[in-house]
Amino acid sequence: MRDETRFEITVTVNGAARRLRVPARRLLSDCLRHDLGLTGTHVGCEHGVCGCCTVLLDGRPVRSCLTFAVTVDGSKITTVEGLAPGDGRLSPVQRAFAECHGLQCGFCTPGFLCTVTALLADNPAPTEDEVLEGISGNLCRCTGYQNIVKAVHRAAELRAEES
Ligand code: FES
Ligand code: FES
Repeated sequence: MRDETRFEITVTVNGAARRLRVPARRLLSDCLRHDLGLTGTHVGCEHGVCGCCTVLLDGRPVRSCLTFAVTVDGSKITTVEGLAPGDGRLSPVQRAFAECHGLQCGFCTPGFLCTVTALLADNPAPTEDEVLEGISGNLCRCTGYQNIVKAVHRAAELRAEES
């Protein structure tokens, strides 16, 4: 018999406190997309391989398809919808991806944007190898990665200019 027990969680999503009642096995990806309507978080493989579903959990990139929503109670989550500073501008990472054509179909892009945002927060001026390592958990079927790598370096420049 299906267990319909629900658990109350409170999370801060893109700066706003949200209270939810979720079943124990509700995935964070489904919670974000279906319960909160934040469909910018994409779901590809649904088993931790592609990185499309990456969001920031207390600033660290996590695969939301491998994360149960109940485990993030009390945490801060940033999805792709929350990366822009909120004054009508895009974030440096978003601008760099647009400028360097770091996307084609865009399906992988929300995951890359979250991953790269965390990468540059940790390491504001990564080497080529560090960029390759940093994005190695995100798959893109369109771009061949070269423009994504360029975008990461460009994002590092834009961040430096803004700081
Ligand atoms: S959908 Fe989560 S890693 Fe692919
Ligand atoms: S832009 Fe299409 S999968 Fe990356």
